[in-house]
Amino acid sequence: MNNFTFCSPTEFVFGRDTEQQVGQLCLKHGASRVLIIYGGGSAVRSGLLDRVQQSLTEAGLPFDTLGGVKPNPEDDLVREGIACLVGQEGILILAVGGGSVIDTAKAIAAGALYDGDFWDFYAGKAKIERALPVGVVLTIPAAGSEGSGNSVITNTATGQKISLRSPEHLRPVFAIMNPELTYTLPPYQTASGICDMMVHIFERYFTNTPDTSITDHVAEGVLRSIIEQAPLVLQAPTDYGPRANIMWAGMLAHNGLCGTGHEEDWASHFMEHELSALYGVTHGAGLAVIFPAWLAVVSVRNPRKAIQLATNVFDVPTFGLRPEQIIAEGIHRLRAFWHSLGLPTTMHELGVTDPDIDALVNNLHVTKGEPIGSYVRLDRTLTREIYELAR
Ligand code: NZQ
Ligand code: ZN
Repeated sequence: MNNFTFCSPTEFVFGRDTEQQVGQLCLKHGASRVLIIYGGGSAVRSGLLDRVQQSLTEAGLPFDTLGGVKPNPEDDLVREGIACLVGQEGILILAVGGGSVIDTAKAIAAGALYDGDFWDFYAGKAKIERALPVGVVLTIPAAGSEGSGNSVITNTATGQKISLRSPEHLRPVFAIMNPELTYTLPPYQTASGICDMMVHIFERYFTNTPDTSITDHVAEGVLRSIIEQAPLVLQAPTDYGPRANIMWAGMLAHNGLCGTGHEEDWASHFMEHELSALYGVTHGAGLAVIFPAWLAVVSVRNPRKAIQLATNVFDVPTFGLRPEQIIAEGIHRLRAFWHSLGLPTTMHELGVTDPDIDALVNNLHVTKGEPIGSYVRLDRTLTREIYELAR
């Protein structure tokens, strides 16, 4: 096991009606004014935004609102948010939504206290030294941004979708997690979120670091619970128990717990970010396409964790099977599981019928360098093989 620091400082407030506490939580975390960020309208239609505003009013907190964050959020709205804050003090940025809204809020929080353009952080030209506090009312368990120190923004001018990591500054100070807020999610978004959280665990699980039994078994336990609860959520979308389990799983998958002491990989995420940058696909659905292809290619070169995943998570029997048969059966069961949730596992099924593989490979290595990943180091020959296999 490698040396590590594990810090998950966010105050998670979980359960029914917890959004009513948002005003008090903003006060507790030092706000004297709030900028609410939200998405394309689901929080308005459900009445959540009204309830949040009422709680802020009851707490005596003035607020402004900025809506319209799109999935795969873009840089322009971040700049608009930063411009709203000029000359204001004591601001807390409150994200009411999912990963796209939270990541926009984080970008505004960092950009508001920086003299240059916020994109400098994403382009690697500047490091975040301070940021405004971000609070969250989560409406979709998926990206795990409520507990992560990351923010992913697309620059529409360059076409780059870049993940920025700055845990000291970007972890939310609080996150309200009411599973009932997720009842209105369409099945495709629910399923895509489930896939995303599973891949957040896989990115950490596939490691060459030795002696990681404790972290591996935590990861396997969370994965088994997701696999058990996911069909229940899709069968009964307004059943509190499965929604609650999936919501908490999404946080545990990405706050770092499932990767303590591991060298992590993240190649599948980098490859998917190019797919959503170029074709605007839903991130989790894109991962359902990329990850099985990644697994098939890397496990030929490094079979150890693929066998462990197949046996410990997908219950593939080992008796009488060769290692490559165990791996193939594991990949088959993973794909079948995602299909059963209504997810695509090829680009064709995703609606990308004529992918520009040259552009995907080039953009990937321009943004992320070469090689990428750590479980198996991937040069452009191997990333091309993975994209081709995912067609
Ligand atoms: O915009 P609205 O109208 O709110 O609709 C959203 C959006 O269309 C809808 N939705 C959310 N909650 C809902 C709801 N619809 C009905 N009822 C509700 N309760 O769902 C759609 C997707 O929302 P989005 O925020 O985009 O989803 P998600 O949480 O999956 O976030 C995806 C983004 O996060 C990034 C992804 O790359 C992508 O840009 N990621 C961020 C990470 C991080 N910051 O740590 C890590 C992840 O790996 C990921 O890369
Ligand atoms: Zn993800």
